[in-house]
This record gives sequence, structure tokens and C-alpha cells, in this order.
Amino acid sequence: MTNPLPGAPHLAYSQGRLAMDGLDLQSLGQAYGTPLYVYSAQAMSAAARAYQAALAGRPHLLCYAMKANSNLAVLQTFAQLGLGFDIVSAGELKRVLAAGGDPAKVVFSGVGKTRAEMQAALRLGVRCFNVESQAELEVLAEVAQHEGRAARVSLRVNPDIDAGTHPYISTGLKGNKFGVAHDRALSLYAQARQLKGLDVMGIDCHIGSQITEVAPYLDALDRVLDLVEAIERDGTRLHHLDLGGGLGITYTDEQPPSPQALVQAMLQRIDARGHGHRELLLEPGRSLVGNAGVLLTDVLYLKPAQADEMTQGGRHFCVVDAAMNDMMRPAMYQAWMGIVECVQPPAGAARTTWDVVGPVCESGDWLGKDRSLAVQAGDTLAVLSAGAYGMTMASNYNTRGRAAEIMIKGGRAHLIRERETPEQLFAGERLIG
Ligand code: LLP
Repeated sequence: MTNPLPGAPHLAYSQGRLAMDGLDLQSLGQAYGTPLYVYSAQAMSAAARAYQAALAGRPHLLCYAMKANSNLAVLQTFAQLGLGFDIVSAGELKRVLAAGGDPAKVVFSGVGKTRAEMQAALRLGVRCFNVESQAELEVLAEVAQHEGRAARVSLRVNPDIDAGTHPYISTGLKGNKFGVAHDRALSLYAQARQLKGLDVMGIDCHIGSQITEVAPYLDALDRVLDLVEAIERDGTRLHHLDLGGGLGITYTDEQPPSPQALVQAMLQRIDARGHGHRELLLEPGRSLVGNAGVLLTDVLYLKPAQADEMTQGGRHFCVVDAAMNDMMRPAMYQAWMGIVECVQPPAGAARTTWDVVGPVCESGDWLGKDRSLAVQAGDTLAVLSAGAYGMTMASNYNTRGRAAEIMIKGGRAHLIRERETPEQLFAGERLIG
């Protein structure tokens, strides 16, 4: 048995065939059609339990950032483990309810909450609003007074820390749209304390995503604790610290800290500075679901370049049935995702360096470049680490229905989302006259 992805024991070749939790992936692709997302419930649970074990004995709340993967069955898996949720829209709040989650364990993040969203969240009694600007704070106070309820709030502070990640997913730097500037936080807390309708609960920061080192977290934590001390000296009591999400996973050769290592380092620093009594909130997304999923896709056509074209910049294209609308990360961030054969080619089979591309009419529609694969039309490939920011970022570009989703749980495959049909895609549209 060999594992194509370090740290993902649920994914292994057995007698040359790739299986997830013992179920043959190519067979699943044939049974349900491709493109197909397949997730391991067990791998998701194991990731959540790793955080929980590290936080055991401490007041804490793990809020799964559901933007990473918001399928109801995924949310159900985490709700059953006692997790709360980090949401960014009223739509995500509806998903919490539909999946049996507890609104009292929900934190509501995002720079652009509407009044209607605030109202819905207040009525359901969400745990905390992570407020990102003075203007939002004032509107929230107004909505809360109108509703006759107190809005529990944290301010999301921008610690001006470089998380060392891709610019599109780095959020803790001054130039980002997120959070309130560190040097304005103190006066904003003073204002929050005065505003009717608000109940100041804590402080929040989130410095970015796919972070592969502990150091930026500790730098941000130090900056946040400096603020906490200043805010409390100023007379506002803070109950919790929310340190956001962002822990990276292995796509290729990254070696991010484990959740245990990260949490331990944070707790040590928190204790060393005398803040151990505070409740710790975390908002992990990718690290709970990323490595638990694959995207299966069939090879449609091989389009190798001729020898004379290769000398003029030609490429060998492997055209598959999944595209940028199914998995946007490579097109959007030039993200590298592992791509492997579901049935291992025989030893010594000729390999070619392919660009794995989809059917969408864009040159940016690729899933992987320069991949050494021994493939033929009809073979099934697995795009690895596809459990996070895959399906949730999928679109219907080119009137392509979104893929089906399968969850493996208890040794069985469960269809957790049907493939979209073209009729569903234009059901809301109207002809004129
Ligand atoms: N909390 C807040 C406020 C966030 O904005 C995010 C992610 C998270 C938590 C969860 O971060 P995670 O643990 O998943 O890194 N689509 C991009 C990632 C965007 C992340 C957005 N915010 C990608 O595919 O890499």
C-alpha cells in the first residue's frame, strides 16, 4: 500500500488501485459519473478531533469555517462532533440550521454584512459578530436596538502581519480590506462600549490562509494580546480570543505544523502572557476538510504536440471532463494540486509531461501543468487535496452543472449532492413576451 499524499492515510493504493477508506475510486467514478467529489467523513472527523484534543481542558470553541466546504453532510459531521461554525452570509446560517448545527455556536465574519443578515443572525441568537469596521459597528448597534436584542461583538483587528502566503489569501496586512487597523482598535472598542445594543465579548483576527508556519500566528497573537491589555486597561472587559483559521495543508511538499503543534504553541504564548483564563475560539476551514477530499475526473482526449511543435513552445494536453468551473484554485491562484492516476500504470509504462486541462473555453482552464502521467482516454484521474475550496467555489460557467458529491462514511459511499442538470441551471430564467 502506498499513499499518494503525505498525511492522508485514508487515501492509498492497494494492488495498484487508488482507494479512499477502502473504497475503489475509479469504481465510484464509474458508478456516479465524473467529475465527482469524494470525501472521507473519517478524515474530516480525525482532523477536528486533532484540534479538540489539543484544546481539551481549556475553555474553547472550534468554529468550522464552512466556506471551505459547506455541503450539509459535511456540516452535519462537524455539528455531531460539537463544533460551531464560522459563517459569512445569511445563506451559510441557513445551512447551519439545515444541518442540525447550533446557532449559539456560530460566529459571523465578513466585511459586508447586510442589515437583513444582521437581523436574521440576531433573531437566531448567534454567538458573536466579528465586526470589521466602524461603519458596520454603528449599523449593527442600530439593528440590534431595533430588534430589542443585544448583539455580542468582537472587533476583527488587522495585526499587520505577513502570513507568507499567496497575496489573494493573505488577509492580515495593512493593505487588505479586512479588519480594523491595529492603531484604531482601542478607540473603536471605547466606542463599542458606549453604543447601545452591543455587548462586547472578545477580539478577533484572521491573518490569511494556507499558512505553513507557526511564527506568523505567534506574531499576530502578540499584537492581539498587546491590544487586549490596552483595551482592558481602558475599562472594557474581553471574554474571548478568536485567532481565526488559516492553517495550511500539504498539496505538494509543504510541511505545515499539525493542529496540535499550532494550538500548543498558541496556548503556551497565551499562558506565558497571563491570558490563560480566556476562552479560545478558532475558525479552521481548509485544515479540517482539504486533504479529506478528491475530485475524480475522466480523461476525454489526449492532444499531444508534434515533435516540431514542441520546439516552438508546443504543449501536450490531456483534456479531462473536470474544469475550472469545478475546481477554480489552479486558474485563480496558480495553485498546485496533486493529480494522480486512479489505476497505477504498469511499471515501465511510458510517461508524458501533460498539461491537464478542462473543456471550458478559456486558456486559464487548467488543473495542473507539467504533470508526468501515463494516461489514455477513458482513464480516471484524482485531483488531490480537493476537499477545501473546491465545490464551494464551483460555478456554472459554460452552463456546466456542478459535480455530484459523495461522502464515505461507515465503509459506504453516500450521495450527498446530486449532479446538477442543465434544466436546473436555467430554471429561474424567463423568456420575454
Ligand atoms: N476565518 C475567516 C475570517 C476567513 O476569512 C477564513 C478564510 C477562514 C476563517 C478559514 O481559513 P482556512 O482555515 O480555510 O485557511 N479560496 C482560497 C482560500 C480563501 C480563504 C478565505 N478565508 C483558496 O482556495 O485557497
